[in-house]
Amino acid sequence: MVHKLKKKKFLINGGLGMIGSAIAKILVKAKAKVTIVDSMEEPFGANLFNIEEIKDKVSLYFYDIKDTNKMKKEVEGKDVILNLAGQIAHNDSIIDPLYDAKMNYLYQLNVMECVRQANPSAKIIFSGSRLQFGKINSIPVDENHISKPETPYALHKQATENMYQFYNRHYNLDTVVFRIANPFGPGGQIKHPKYTIINYFIGQALKGKTISVFGDGSQLRDYIFVEDLAYAFLAASVTEKSKGQVFNIGSGTGTSFLNMVEKIIKVVGNGSFKNIPWPKDYINVETGDYITNINKAKNILNWIPHTDFETGVSKTVEFYSKHSSKYLQ
Ligand SMILES: NC(=O)c1ccc[n+]([C@@H]2O[C@H](COP(=O)([O-])OP(=O)(O)OC[C@H]3O[C@@H](n4cnc5c(N)ncnc54)[C@H](O)[C@@H]3O)[C@@H](O)[C@H]2O)c1
Repeated sequence: MVHKLKKKKFLINGGLGMIGSAIAKILVKAKAKVTIVDSMEEPFGANLFNIEEIKDKVSLYFYDIKDTNKMKKEVEGKDVILNLAGQIAHNDSIIDPLYDAKMNYLYQLNVMECVRQANPSAKIIFSGSRLQFGKINSIPVDENHISKPETPYALHKQATENMYQFYNRHYNLDTVVFRIANPFGPGGQIKHPKYTIINYFIGQALKGKTISVFGDGSQLRDYIFVEDLAYAFLAASVTEKSKGQVFNIGSGTGTSFLNMVEKIIKVVGNGSFKNIPWPKDYINVETGDYITNINKAKNILNWIPHTDFETGVSKTVEFYSKHSSKYLQ
């Protein structure tokens, strides 16, 4: 697959964040041409250190994806546009739904319109979320599971998915949507618990802190290592079979929340945990157990994740043991 990336032109919106920068590093190694657009919006995960090793090999622009003129120029001539820029704290979206709607729907529509007008043959891929499903009826969750979003974040991600499907049907654009489970790994923010909870907990454990586990922590989650996720984006980028499709992307395995915390404490060799009652604003949006059915992605994208949970945690802990100061500023 990697040889197909050579000389292909990629635009990564939100490429200074955890997922976008992981993709950018693989692309640079594969000799693809990479452009990154990032507004470094707070409190999200933009970090210049994420691209330190490739900074001379990518074109980097600091602006917001809502800028129509700049975005239209940027999408021109690109083979693939990866849309990772967005508001990503789903609990915050309950406090400010309008901000979330702009970031996760309206500005995404802006990018899509730029592509339709300036480069309609490009492939355009969107990072949706497993949260689009809302409460889970049965696991593992495949693409046909009913979607009943429980937060504005999930609702706007679903609206953008629908918009992608609309542009595929009505304008024949080459759109792809990923509904992503819980990613973690090097390069994610560790300053706050708003998203990428594993990264935050690793930061806490490294500082010897006590991690709070809501309830008994028995809920299952599907934690996917960021490099595996990056390869899924690239697999979708190089096949015509992904056109117009929606994929559930995760590790395909379930780990209980408690088990995740215990593994982090064990691998870090520091920190502790305590069980506390579920806060009301968390229990209200709790989805229940989640495991991804990745059969569609396996079959159509010819992709499988390679990193088991413990290996992923070890690699992440190793990274932050060396570099946590760069992520706490
Ligand atoms: N991390 C998760 O838990 C998770 C789970 C499922 C889906 N996703 C989705 O994947 C995408 C990337 O997630 P991530 O973990 O890499 O997040 P991240 O915060 O590390 O990266 C997002 C990047 O987008 C940039 N950005 C935000 N709004 C922008 C705008 N309007 N214009 C330009 N740049 C902007 C930020 O500065 C940041 O660098 C997001 O769309 C997110 O919703 C993330």
